Amino acid sequence: PRVAVVFGGRSSEHAISCVTAGSVLAAIDPEQYDVVPIGIARDGRWVLESGETERLRIGAGDGADRMPSVDGERATVNLAPHVSSTDLILAEASRPPRSLGEVDVVFPLLHGPWGEDGTIQGMLEMAGVRYVGAGVLASAIGMDKAYMKVVLTAAGLPVMPSVVVTAREWSTDPQACRERSAELGYPLFVKPARGGSSIGISKVHDASGLDAALEEALAHDPKVLVEVCATGAREIECGVLQALDGTTETSVPAEIRITGDHEFYDFDAKYLPEEATELDVPAVLPAEVEARLRELSARAFEAIGCEGLARVDFFVFPDGSLVVNEINTMPGFTPLSMFPRMWAASGLDYRSLVDRLIRLALA
Ligand code: DAL
Ligand code: MG
Repeated sequence: PRVAVVFGGRSSEHAISCVTAGSVLAAIDPEQYDVVPIGIARDGRWVLESGETERLRIGAGDGADRMPSVDGERATVNLAPHVSSTDLILAEASRPPRSLGEVDVVFPLLHGPWGEDGTIQGMLEMAGVRYVGAGVLASAIGMDKAYMKVVLTAAGLPVMPSVVVTAREWSTDPQACRERSAELGYPLFVKPARGGSSIGISKVHDASGLDAALEEALAHDPKVLVEVCATGAREIECGVLQALDGTTETSVPAEIRITGDHEFYDFDAKYLPEEATELDVPAVLPAEVEARLRELSARAFEAIGCEGLARVDFFVFPDGSLVVNEINTMPGFTPLSMFPRMWAASGLDYRSLVDRLIRLALA
């Protein structure tokens, strides 16, 4: 079968998607699949890529440009002419064989808005093309932390209390926004509602830091979530994978232990190898807590109507109580990423994981 791997994209997680794609492209068995790598530049242009994975690494560039990108100046592998997404869908026979219509399955390895949020999923539904992972609605719910909480809460899953602040409210009545936030009690996290990889997130210790944190998050998204900080909790994640028979399986959970001067699991702690965040894969947990965490992961997956894969992130409090931080419908797949590592520790290696996701989409 012919697999289009789509990566990059218009979101702030463009580079992470490139790194993810580099690993996935290298893991797809060329004997079994004919791979068409498609990059989406930051400005939305669709670019046929060579599939050469070496430059899709963190550190492939130099200096400040350590993060790979589809449209980076150092991109040396953009061999094919630029085509717009419309061209790809409507490609005529004159441009075979590289049109989406002739692809058996699309692997949308995109993180964040315009990729993980149901938009490309909707486009693929319209075009009648199969794809890996969650559908339109689950992707949209998983992307929007405010709606995610509404849906998880309705399903009886515990989440941290939060309030929403929109750009409009902030510009018309900032004092009301401040008061609403402060009522939650400091410390607080301020997050773009539809972000990822901790981009635009700040931890706020008291009222003096709130305005700057709101401005920062609002610079990424006109909708912001102000959330109670899970003080004293451990951060533990769990992988969920759909089986070919439609049932869900969960991985062993893993723990993130922030080291160095990171106040939380921020972008650098997530992706820069030298930051050396410690990951315990699997997490050391009482059997009962692990069982409950895995059960809640599967329930969160079901609650949003997810398909394919997800990573569910938890706070685990000292008394063993659990709170769902969030669900990610296209979790990072970089070599440092939790999702593949948790599955490897559960007996499913990286190549098998990628193969299974593609098979699932083709089934
Ligand atoms: N948003 C990043 C890629 C993750 O959840 O892993
Ligand atoms: Mg996320």
